[in-house]
Amino acid sequence: MDLSMQVSDKLRGRDFISIHDYQADEVAYILEVGLELKRLQKQGIPHPLLAGKTLGMIFQKSSTRTRVAFEVGMYQLGGHALFLSPKDIQLGRGETVKDTALVLSRMLDGIMIRTFAHDEVLELARWASIPVINGLTDLLHPTQVIGDLMTVKEHKGALKGLKLAFIGDGNNVAHELLYGCAKVGMDMVIACPPGFEPDQQVLQMARQDAQSSGARLEVLADPWEGVKGADIIYTDVWASMGQEGEADEKEKKFRAYQVNQALLEAANPGAIVMHCLPAKRGKEITDQVMDGPQSVVFDESENRLHAHKAIMAVTM
Ligand code: CP
Ligand code: NVA
Repeated sequence: MDLSMQVSDKLRGRDFISIHDYQADEVAYILEVGLELKRLQKQGIPHPLLAGKTLGMIFQKSSTRTRVAFEVGMYQLGGHALFLSPKDIQLGRGETVKDTALVLSRMLDGIMIRTFAHDEVLELARWASIPVINGLTDLLHPTQVIGDLMTVKEHKGALKGLKLAFIGDGNNVAHELLYGCAKVGMDMVIACPPGFEPDQQVLQMARQDAQSSGARLEVLADPWEGVKGADIIYTDVWASMGQEGEADEKEKKFRAYQVNQALLEAANPGAIVMHCLPAKRGKEITDQVMDGPQSVVFDESENRLHAHKAIMAVTM
């Protein structure tokens, strides 16, 4: 693929709300574009695929990686990104999502939104005439998982047939990983304390997606059982953004789900360790594992940049 020229127009104009909305070959294409953009960036080859275009970024929750990756990514693609804080825009004072979508569509070429309710993203996309990119909701985190799949591909050479064990809360990242694994044919086990399983509807929809790829998607309670035969161990915070009040209570229930050296040794030799970050070191993951030789968490972080560039370059 010669990206110094252009990317295909086949996904142009599409929203990016979940990997579930994309066909397997479309997901494969986004990953391919991401890896190619990474190569061009590393070699210092300019790739101004979005010259003259502007992305608006609405953040109702904090962010380090997502914000920086979109902003820097847009710059590297020759475009411009605007940070729209809810404290400053009229959405925060009660202007409707619909009106915000209609106005922003007149000035921008794409909108990225990170918010609480998934329905807010759907509402924004319903009224916007430009692509809407989901930068995380309480339900899903699709831009994360594109970067994650790129990372697995780089470290393991392939995706299909591998096994990913997600240890911890059945949260937004776990949900999107179910969709991602289902599309690419990667087996996934979620090991979580009873009461913290992933959303049943997401699991069901991911299992439907998995019928064509052959991926097996399982939920169980025992982390030791979960990591058996795993090529990738993945974890995330026990209390997500918006759940700060539940953190102490959750900590007691999740203690047995820490990704530490002993648990890592129960996985396949050479298994890689992933975490979307930010991490609570010493809680869901130990320093030893996070800073150890099997950890790829900072490659994973970097790949958000290349992944977001790919998502923007193909949709905007
Ligand atoms: N992983 C991730 O989305 O990080 P930020 O919250 O820092 O954007
Ligand atoms: N599950 C975490 C992911 C942060 C990137 C959260 O929603 O806070």
